[in-house]
Amino acid sequence: MKQNTLSFEKQLSDWCANTFATCFPDSDLSTFTLGVTPGKNEQFGDYQCEAAMKLSKKLRTNPRAIGQAFIDHAVLPGLIEKIEIAGPGFINIFLKNEGISIQLTDMLTDENLGLPNKGNNQTVLIDYSSPNIAKPMHIGHIRSTVIGNSIDRLYRALGYNVIADNHLGDWGTQFGLIILGYREFADHDALKTAPVEELERIYVESYNRSKEDGTWRDRAKAELVKLQQGDKENRALWATFIQLTLSEFNKIYKRLDVSFDLYRGESFYNDDLAKTVEKLEMAGLSEESDGALICNLEEDGLAVAIVRKSDGGYNYTTTDIATVASRTEEFSPAEIIYVTDERQQLHFKQFFHICKQLGIETKLTHIWFGLMRLPEATFSTREGNVIKLEALLDEAEARALEVVKASSPDMDETQQKEVARAVGIGAIKYTDLSQNPQSLVTFTWKKALAMDGNSAPYLQYAYARIASVRDKYATKFPGINPDEFPIKLTEEQERRLALKLIRFPSAVESAARLHRPSVMADYLYDLSQAYSSFYQNVPFLKAEQGPRESRIRLCTLTASVLKKGLSLLGIETPERI
Ligand code: ARG
Repeated sequence: MKQNTLSFEKQLSDWCANTFATCFPDSDLSTFTLGVTPGKNEQFGDYQCEAAMKLSKKLRTNPRAIGQAFIDHAVLPGLIEKIEIAGPGFINIFLKNEGISIQLTDMLTDENLGLPNKGNNQTVLIDYSSPNIAKPMHIGHIRSTVIGNSIDRLYRALGYNVIADNHLGDWGTQFGLIILGYREFADHDALKTAPVEELERIYVESYNRSKEDGTWRDRAKAELVKLQQGDKENRALWATFIQLTLSEFNKIYKRLDVSFDLYRGESFYNDDLAKTVEKLEMAGLSEESDGALICNLEEDGLAVAIVRKSDGGYNYTTTDIATVASRTEEFSPAEIIYVTDERQQLHFKQFFHICKQLGIETKLTHIWFGLMRLPEATFSTREGNVIKLEALLDEAEARALEVVKASSPDMDETQQKEVARAVGIGAIKYTDLSQNPQSLVTFTWKKALAMDGNSAPYLQYAYARIASVRDKYATKFPGINPDEFPIKLTEEQERRLALKLIRFPSAVESAARLHRPSVMADYLYDLSQAYSSFYQNVPFLKAEQGPRESRIRLCTLTASVLKKGLSLLGIETPERI
């Protein structure tokens, strides 16, 4: 892993902060963020610092005077051309072209494309996907899988030691009903062909019977107690349900190229629950209420959380508190990140709060997302509210195949199918990842598979086009090694592209810090647009030797950044589309 622990943008930011510290040695500025942001308008610099405005109140000085002090004290690093004050007190920073070229060359020679080793092997545990045994995955689990996996990839790329943990819902009262139903009316053929659907059918039927029939209810309860007490046969059945369900889920994970380090379901923590409740009682954090044990969080503005039901059973909150304690003890993570749908916000607030009261200092983050809106008739595979994920992926691949056939009619069929797989799966993932997950997203195939908008196929296509430019170059100028020529930025569009390229590391950092894959998606879309205007306006293969090689190197770097960036979203980049 690379030594560098700071991205270029962070280095610039640190330089600004240090300069402010030397300007105002008597004031403590440590609570302010005094960094730079990429300039929005070239006229006002390549980067901009708004700190003078932020400091004005604290220093009781007007922002322009603060900016002037900055300029008077600043020792410009070699790559900065000039700095100036603008408007109310912005500090505009202009980079030297050679400075940008050095950054580009560094990126080109680094297999990590300049990504800093920010994690430095700190552990981050990400709890995602986490579907329930004996039930089909719903759209929320799919989103959790895709978003969680991208956060996972972003953190790994920054040098964190990531533990991806699939916290399966594999414990609970439903298993008494399923065991009884399984013994009485399982359809063994259906269990072979569609195990998860059959398990769900068994559960629903058994549940309905328990509503009408007290004897059935008691029998189910007895099966549950046996399971909980470790009865061999019931445990074996339960293990079968897990294995049947997981073998189905694993097919989906494989197609989505998602893998986990741990599959520790709720059952893993079962033996810790009594101890967990004891800890809460000892710390004076719980109280009896109507036979149940609760944590009263009203003072903190949260609803009461039940940690032991009146029948003695524990619940979701208890398990999650036990899970945090266990993970903290075993892995000492710097952060635990949970990815679920929006309906669980209260649950997470409650148990995060309780963990804090218990003295657990680990940073706990809940990333939630809204449910995607699915207009009627979007999916031919939709039944009621359940989308069969396998069928959805099949449909995506089939629709992508039409797109590929149209764009590459001469490609052989096996290859067309392989490309369609990458495009179809990519389109589904990108739709999930490219939007603010908390806003309401409406899924349409047209948008997901558009070749000319902010979509996966558009970016994949941009990548393939760049690959073909490089091929053309290699055929036309064999024997020339572009890497032997320096990168020189002479044209406006090429400088713009270069500036976007050097922002890659900080885009990855922001996406990870904000837990927002959409930041990465926006960056990549922006980059491919900059590339496209560079490609259209700057002579390329027709340029003379020197500029031509410099441009080919920019092209190579753009391709590498697109490939790496898309891989952080879990999206493949075929060489041809
Ligand atoms: N199994 C839960 C569900 O399907 C999600 C679990 C999320 N993780 C957690 N530690 N609570 O709703």
